[in-house]
Order: sequence, then structure tokens, then C-alpha cells
Amino acid sequence: VASLQEALFSLHPAGFTRKDSTLKTQLVCLIMVVPESQGELYHPPPDLQRDAHVPDFSSYVGMYKKSLENPEAFWKEVADEFFWKKPATGPMLQYNFDATKGNIFVKCMEGAKTNMCYNVLDRHVREGNLSEKVAYYWEGNSPEHHTTITYGQMLSSVCRCANVLKRMGVRKGDRVSIYLPMIPELVYTMLACARIGAVHSVVFAGFSSDSLCERIMDAQSSVLVTVDGVYRGDKLINLKQISDEALEKTTSRIYISRFQTPWDSERDEWWDEAMSDSSEDCEPEWLDAEDPLFILYTSGSTGKPKGVVHTVAGYLLYTFLTFKCVFDYHHDDVYWCTADIGWITGHSYITYGPLANGATSVLFEGIPVHPHVGRFWEIIEKYKVTKFYTAPTAIRLLMKYGQEPLYDLSSLRILGTVGEPINPEAWLWYYKTVGQSRCPVVDTFWQTETGGHVLTPLPAATPLKPGSATFPFFGVEPTILNEHGEEVEGEAEGYLPWPGIMRTVYENHERFENTYFKKFPGFYVTGDGARRDKDGYFWITGRIDDMLNVSGHLLSTAEVEAALTLHSAVSEAAVVSRPHQVKGECLYCFVTLKDSWEFDKKTVAELKTLVREKIGPIATPDFIQNAPALPKTRSGKIMRRILRQIARNEKDLGDLSTLADPKVVEVLFSQRSKAA
Ligand code: WTA
Repeated sequence: VASLQEALFSLHPAGFTRKDSTLKTQLVCLIMVVPESQGELYHPPPDLQRDAHVPDFSSYVGMYKKSLENPEAFWKEVADEFFWKKPATGPMLQYNFDATKGNIFVKCMEGAKTNMCYNVLDRHVREGNLSEKVAYYWEGNSPEHHTTITYGQMLSSVCRCANVLKRMGVRKGDRVSIYLPMIPELVYTMLACARIGAVHSVVFAGFSSDSLCERIMDAQSSVLVTVDGVYRGDKLINLKQISDEALEKTTSRIYISRFQTPWDSERDEWWDEAMSDSSEDCEPEWLDAEDPLFILYTSGSTGKPKGVVHTVAGYLLYTFLTFKCVFDYHHDDVYWCTADIGWITGHSYITYGPLANGATSVLFEGIPVHPHVGRFWEIIEKYKVTKFYTAPTAIRLLMKYGQEPLYDLSSLRILGTVGEPINPEAWLWYYKTVGQSRCPVVDTFWQTETGGHVLTPLPAATPLKPGSATFPFFGVEPTILNEHGEEVEGEAEGYLPWPGIMRTVYENHERFENTYFKKFPGFYVTGDGARRDKDGYFWITGRIDDMLNVSGHLLSTAEVEAALTLHSAVSEAAVVSRPHQVKGECLYCFVTLKDSWEFDKKTVAELKTLVREKIGPIATPDFIQNAPALPKTRSGKIMRRILRQIARNEKDLGDLSTLADPKVVEVLFSQRSKAA
């Protein structure tokens, strides 16, 4: 421990950006939930350290220092792994994070020409002899459906798909929307886009037709690739119908795979027919390092989702290196990330990061509890999974079904989590029961915007504390600021970018600058609360803006409020989070009804359905409460802090003097029991 502390001390004494002044409240909450064992360290197992890429803490510190002191040399070494049609003419990284000095930008390897698809497929097949290596074990929703896809087969399917897209008129820079479940065609289409320089925009297949439509329109996509239906557990979801509804409002064409379905022969094409006529030869389009690779929408605090743009070279380097180090990738691994590719975790750690490394992954279409609650463990046993990456919400769900998974999990070597803070109880169950106390748990903190992990343990190097995302990844220099932009600990020196950081909000650079860089010139603001403990470990405490994290999915309160107020009964709505045993947080909605309306079961049911239809099932409110009036300041701002406390039934509300009408609070407490 003494040498660990010494090593830590040599790291830059910094923290993470935070935006509001509720530090004390959050700290108090945090200390209450972290049990006594907070200080206990879980050390990396020696057998993992023997051949690890980063074998101990001092190697981590050495590499970390190099990444900050000499980013040019550090990232150049990573870039040397890949194929560049033309070498870079500019430095590895150029940037400005300070709006007072001009436009915000980040560039990686300016002047270089390359192709993502070439680097993640052709390079392995042609140069690495990996043609026969399994890229994905695809496991369907039903255990009876499964297939194996090699790197060679992937390349041929991707080229054929790329030729189909070209025949449909898709050119470099055009946008293609993808609304698919977790089937191999989803990966093929993403890589086909990357191959021809088209920009993919994957929309999670759980989103509603309105959400899909909004994303197609914002990206101005010319093609939508979708499927007629998917089984999620026992439920059949008709994605083609949802797509048709979305397309009624747009001019896009649709391009389909799988079952029987209503058909518009002017517009729709079958995947299988199109693919069978298509050639397996497709020369990659050689793109500029900073050409866009994809757009992925994420919730924004104004309600309208932001189209986060990632570019080719930087995203390649960053997802490659984070995957390699954080999961300590070796060629005989079988890796499985249970996320959906509709979210950034799937983009970075199912598609690009693993493929850039030539890894073998499991691609899973189903859900953890179908056809039985041991499905995850059964799949780990079946494919002898060595590295397993999932979300705290899934861990909490499976914990409920018994202490011991009844399967052989002895293949596991590293476990990972992502998406939300993990409570120590769930961490310990994951570590002891699933990992049998021999697999480090990498708690990876990052965002759609960061492209890859920014705070994370390295499995053979970092002593772990349950619930802490520990330390920064290479190239990332975290800082904790208070409301006034002052360092909470240590000195502020600005913020280094890492290659994988987003470059802009699609067609809205101003929103990019305002959201992330305006408040504290020189810093990228994450929107999360955090603290550092005495050993320098980072603890993420959750969002400090108007964002909610339900089962690891970010939602904005504004987005849900906008959906609720579409109902003719509602005059005003305010949405807050309430802790939930499995989902982490759930939605608690306060609605003020118009004069003549009754707050009854029917209205509540209609409101829940409305939110589901407008956004998707993940946004379904758990509670709706009648709010004859909302607590507001004299200037009319809703005081969400008070609503959060009412939702949690916390009676001690502290200072209410800024409320225009303090009586509102009593009324809300009296209505609380009728929330449904
Ligand atoms: C939260 C998901 C605590 C955080 C990759 C962040 C986490 C938001 C963690 C981004 C973690 C993600 N510990 N909180 N390990 N990982 N978060 O864009 O609030 O869907 O800002 O990216 O998830 O969500 P996003």
C-alpha cells in the first residue's frame, strides 16, 4: 500500500469536472452507501499479471505519464499497428478546448488517409492470416438459433453489403440509418458504411417510431436498414411496422431482412435478394483521418437528442487501445459484451474495439432471463467466455435469482461493468459469486461523447475498490471542479484530449461548444458528480444535470416531460429520478392536470402509454403523481431538488425559503400515497 500511495502521488493530482454546488449533499449520500470495506483493496491475481499488457501498477503509472508528457510518441506507437494509405502530415493530436481562444476542435493525425473497415477486417484476413478465426459467435434470442462467423466470412458479407449500398446511390459522406436488433447484419451494415465512407447512424431497436423518425430526419439519412421483426424474450416486436410509421414522415428508402412483412415495392428491398446479386469485391474508400465515421444520438438536457459525431482515425486508436488494455486482450480470448450495439458500448466494445484487435466475441440477441434466468451463465459455459462485460442493472437483476449461478464459469478471467455507478453489494456479488474471487472487476466510466473508457482500472495493474472506477486511462487528465470552476483538490492545468473524444454535434457545432466547453474554458465537462478519496481513487456519484440513468440508459427529464405534456389533460409536468433496486434509477413524474380533469387510473395508464410510444419502453414511468401545483422559485423555476425528496419520501426538506409558495410541499406529500 505504501508503494501504491507513492505511485499515486506521482500521478497528476486531479479530479473530474462537476457543474453544481451540491457537492456536500452528494458526498454525504456517497459516504452512507459505501460500506466499511471501502478501504479494502482487491489485488490483481498474479497469474493474470504474468503475461498482461500492463502487468503492474508501476507500469501503468509509467505509461500514463508518457501519455501525458509525450502524447505524440505515445499515440504514434499505437497508430503503427494500423494501415495508413497516406501517413499523417500533422501531429498525432491537435486541439483547442478553450472557447475564449477560438473554435473548439480536436484533430488526430491530420493528413493521413485510411479506412476503418480495412483496418478491422482486411488487415486481419490479408496480413494477419485470421481468415478462419471466429469474429463472432452469434447466439439468438432462442438458444436453438446460433451461428459462427469468421473474419473471412465477415469480409465477404461486408463487401457485398457495401456494393448494395453503393448501387442504392449511397456515397461517401451520406448518412445511413440502421434500426436493427443484435443480428450479424447489424455489424455488416456498420462496416459496409465504414468501407464506402458513408456515416452510419444506429438507432437502438427499442426506440419508438417517433424517436426513429426524429433521428432519421436530423441525420438526413437516405437509406434505412431494418428488419421485419424480432423476438425479445417471448415478445414479437414488429420493427418493420415501426419503421413504416417513421418513414411516413420522411423520404428515405427501406432495406429489409428476415420474416414476412407488408411491402412497398417502390421503396423496399429484401436484404437476401440484394446481397445475392452483389459482388464480393469492394475497394475501400480511402478517407481522411478526420472524416466522420458515425453519428450516435444521446439524450441532451434540452430534450432534443444530440447527434454525437466520431471520426475515423482517433476512434480507431482509442477503441483499439482501451479494449486491448482494459480487457487485457489475448488472441485466444472469447470476449462477451452484453450491451446492445444501439448504444455506444456496443459500437466501441462489440464492433470496433474487438475487431480492431482481431478478437473473437459473442454477439447476443436475447435478454438475460429468457428462456430462463441462467441464460448469461449458460452462454459463458457454452462458449468458454474469458472476458465478460455487462451493466450493473443486469448484475442486480441476476443477483435476485440466487447466490450461485449453476453453470461452469471457470473460463472467466476478467469481468467488467459500465453504464452507471455500481453499488458495492452488486460489485461484491459479481466479484465473489460470478468471478469466484479470481477475476478482477473493471468498472469502466465513460460516455457516448468520450468514445471509449476514460476512468477505469487495468485488470493486472490496479488494486480495486468496489464501486470506484479508480484511475484515468492513458491520455486522459481528469479534474474535479466546483461551481466556480475551482479545483476541489490539486491544481488545474486544463484538460488533454484523447483521440476518441467526439468532434462535434451533427450539424450543430455551437451546441457542442455550449454543452461541453462553455462553462469552464479549457475543460470538457462530463456532467457527472465525482469525488477522489485519500488514495486518489475516483468515485462517480451520478449525473448532476437534468439527466436520468435508467438501467444504464441516459434519458433527459425534458424529453419525458415533453411527452407527458402532449396529453390533453396535462398542463405541466416535472420528472425526477427515484432509486430503484434493479434499474438503479427509475422515473417519478409529477403532473399538474388541467382544471376539469380527474387524476384517475385511466389517465395514469394513458400517460404511461404515451411516454412509451413517444420515446420507447425504456422511458416508461414507474410512478405518476398528481401535482395540483409544482414547487417553484419566485422567478418560476421548478425546484427539482424538492421533487426528488418528495419522490423518495424524505421529510426533512431543509431550506424552503426560496419557494414562492411553501404550502405546495404539504399538498404534494398528501398526494404521494396516490401515486401510481
Ligand atoms: C454514466 C455509456 C458510473 C455516467 C458508456 C455517464 C457511469 C453516462 C459509468 C454516460 C460508471 C457510465 N460509473 N457512471 N462506470 N459508466 N456512467 O453516454 O453518468 O450512454 O455520464 O455512455 O453513464 O452514458 P452513455
